[in-house]
Amino acid sequence: MHEQLTNRFSVVPRHIAIIMDGNGRWAKQHGLPRIEGHRRGVINVESILECASEINLEVLTLFAFSSENWNRPREEVDALMNLLSEFLASKEPLLHKNRVKLRTIGRKHELPERVVAQLEQVESSTAQYPRTLVLALNYGSRVEVVDAARKLIAMVQAGTLDPANLDWDSLSRCLYTSDLPDPDLVIRTSGESRLSNFLLLQAAYAEIYYSPLNWPDFDRKAFAGALESFQKRERRYGMTSEQIAKRPLPA
Ligand code: FPP
Repeated sequence: MHEQLTNRFSVVPRHIAIIMDGNGRWAKQHGLPRIEGHRRGVINVESILECASEINLEVLTLFAFSSENWNRPREEVDALMNLLSEFLASKEPLLHKNRVKLRTIGRKHELPERVVAQLEQVESSTAQYPRTLVLALNYGSRVEVVDAARKLIAMVQAGTLDPANLDWDSLSRCLYTSDLPDPDLVIRTSGESRLSNFLLLQAAYAEIYYSPLNWPDFDRKAFAGALESFQKRERRYGMTSEQIAKRPLPA
């Protein structure tokens, strides 16, 4: 029986975003094909979803397919799409059970039609729930900024936005994440320490945690380790330690 994470942490982030890296290396270490690494990666998604429920996490974002992942061999891209499809079919009941809604960020319309249909069906059947699982699919921050710029230009042309009034609030409303809180904690597995075009604007004040473990090995103990590290961080948002200490506690 594994140790439950419920009530174990005094400070729980609202939003954790994960770069699930190292499936290929995990497979290589075990003498298996890359696809098997991704399959084990999906099994690990199930276990981390369980951890997220135990800590009552408001938003969990998973980087499942980047806008650059199309450049991988065709059979790997197809296998990732199939795994996504199987995941959606098999995990829909779990989302209902845990009252989690599915959301996607990224250029969804460029994914295979059957995957889009499935995503939309699960998004709509879970829309009423309070907690959120965000799948970043065909996602990249630079493309997201391009899409936001297009929306802003259209608003200016339609006369609904005066460029002189453009500020971060109006710009962030045009990002894919307009209805989500910014991530408090970004985790990347597999020992790589870079953000790889993932939530670059939203993670401006996020704490970053790098784990040496490949994604299929990033278990609940490792997830708890990331949360323990988060407890110890002092988030200053450009202020000094003294200012932070004097700040009134949030209501
Ligand atoms: C990185 O490992 C992982 C990916 C590119 C895909 C992540 C996808 C999954 C875990 C499966 C699909 C997700 C869901 C939610 C159903 P890598 O292949 O880059 O590993 P490597 O750097 O060791 O080669």
